[in-house]
Amino acid sequence: MAYPIGQGLRSGQSCLLGDRRSSATPRPAEPQVALNSSITITVAMLAGPCLSGSERTLIAKSRRTCKCLTINRTRKSEGRSQYGERPTSEPHGGLQVKFLSYNPGHDGAVAFLEDSCLIFSVEAEKDSNYRYSAISVAEVLDAVGQLNAVPDVICMSGWWPRDHHEFLHGSHRNGGYRGVSAQGAIMDKGRLLMGRADYFSSSHERSHIMCAFGMSALPKRTSCYALIWEGEMGSFYEIDPDCNISLIADVLSQPGNRYGLLYALADPTFPKDGPYPRASDAGKLMALASFSTRSTPTASEADLLRFLLDGPYRKLSDYEQLDRAPHLDVGLDDPEFRNFAGIYSDAIFDIFHQFALNNLERGRPLVIAGGCGLNCDWNTRWKETGLFSEVFVPPVANDSGAAIGTAIDAQLRHTGDPKIHWDVYSGLSFRTEGLIDLEGYDVFEGDDNLVADMLADDLILGWAHGKYEIGPRALGNRSILAAPFKDETRVRLNEIKQREQYRPIAPVCLREDAKTWFGCDHDSPHMLYTYRATTGDLLAVTHVNGTARLQTVTSDSNRRLHDLLLAFKARTGYGVLCNTSLNFKGKGFINNLTDLNVYAAEHGLDGFVVEGRAYLRKGSERYRAYRRDSRSGDREESLVFRKPWPAQG
Ligand SMILES: [Fe+2]
Repeated sequence: MAYPIGQGLRSGQSCLLGDRRSSATPRPAEPQVALNSSITITVAMLAGPCLSGSERTLIAKSRRTCKCLTINRTRKSEGRSQYGERPTSEPHGGLQVKFLSYNPGHDGAVAFLEDSCLIFSVEAEKDSNYRYSAISVAEVLDAVGQLNAVPDVICMSGWWPRDHHEFLHGSHRNGGYRGVSAQGAIMDKGRLLMGRADYFSSSHERSHIMCAFGMSALPKRTSCYALIWEGEMGSFYEIDPDCNISLIADVLSQPGNRYGLLYALADPTFPKDGPYPRASDAGKLMALASFSTRSTPTASEADLLRFLLDGPYRKLSDYEQLDRAPHLDVGLDDPEFRNFAGIYSDAIFDIFHQFALNNLERGRPLVIAGGCGLNCDWNTRWKETGLFSEVFVPPVANDSGAAIGTAIDAQLRHTGDPKIHWDVYSGLSFRTEGLIDLEGYDVFEGDDNLVADMLADDLILGWAHGKYEIGPRALGNRSILAAPFKDETRVRLNEIKQREQYRPIAPVCLREDAKTWFGCDHDSPHMLYTYRATTGDLLAVTHVNGTARLQTVTSDSNRRLHDLLLAFKARTGYGVLCNTSLNFKGKGFINNLTDLNVYAAEHGLDGFVVEGRAYLRKGSERYRAYRRDSRSGDREESLVFRKPWPAQG
């Protein structure tokens, strides 16, 4: 039975319908795969669930040799390809399919997979665009500029219906928000370079799950659980060895929105009839919850908890007791509100924990996705439950990973492989071509000892090199670094960042020293878990409850930062630094020299280091004092080395 090009696998009439797509939905003719000319399977079968073990082995072998397996995309019935016009003899025609994937909306990004490797992910908010931005033409052109080959498949990460027509009639381009069935994906003809590309779109729900599973170290064919908790979804899933995804249950709707809503309750600037909290509120509440010293709610708090967590998500003005609600408009500094923030955080976690206790089999792995996966306290608690053999959270757990997840989903569909190789530093390179007035700086070529000495003397420096981190956490390529010892440093960093003083500063630490200072005896490279500081010496990076959102570093994970930490350790005895993101308030990471120059002057950095070159601001009082002391010889003996000062100084 043949179906017109363009209808593809448009089986769901509404992306709100999730998996309620009819089994009677027409299926397109199935392109074929010829394996060594002796085995023929269909492309539809290449979606993992349809493959036998022997077929998978053959495909895996063919992928390694890169020459045996070719996709014959010719439709039997029409002599045309549903998936594009590429002939089987084309060099990239095998299973080394290249996927260019985009998430157009919230936390927009454009990602590229080639040969099961993440080549890049260009994120819309980066380069000082507003946080959570949708992608624009600029990011698309940036991504195209990074391409080293023509993509075989264009992928769009699914989202809510764009308009009423899509809501009523579905879409042949938008894979929708909910839905876990592989058969619900849209596979169609693309429109790139005279049509030489296929098109793929699957649901936002699948993008989260495939992102978490595909980026995990779990071998393919590992049976595991997945948890999505984000603004909309709060659900557990099972992934079977053939990568079939089953929804176990929607445990709590809109956990992320519910969480942020408490911050909005106490914030007098938030209108209580606002339908949703601001996107930044959840992260701020996470910081405030750590101040909690009480675990039992009062009677009125218990009533408020029932409104917030029982039944559907509702805006605050729907609470009948709102006028008498505890913590209404009390402000974020109120200690009783902070106590309740901890109680509320625990209550949300406990809903999911209790479900897992009662419904999930012990000892299987868990992968976590969704914006709540950036909550380090909750991630740590999942590990501590002992319910799961291992827990994995990708650094792009929020929607910044949606484009990657959809690309992985497309890769699974086209090649049977749901796994990718990736590096967290897969953004764009820092742009140094901008003009800045060097008269305002002393400039030194790379010397970690000098930079470490300045940091030890309480200078605060920007630090940029290589490609930016994917996801929202600065992990040493777009960071502000400082010594970790004094609480005054945390205060000054929050002033530089123009943010609330209750926000903690995270430590970055040599992997080999993490056990000594934070009791962490394993890699924790993405700042996704909390550890308890073992010393009172690291006040700037120890949160009020004694925990720290640790990032560990090795020479393999980030050589430049590792070398600097070694130099700082030689200078101070501690291979630990403050690490916070290098960004204007409300915007993504700085990614060019011009912006960094402005930021340093306006926000009071003492200088910055870009690709190993140090720029020290002559206008910085701290830097001038450091330089004075160094020249006077007062600190001669304490410095690990001497550096000739530049002529222009
Ligand atoms: Fe999401």
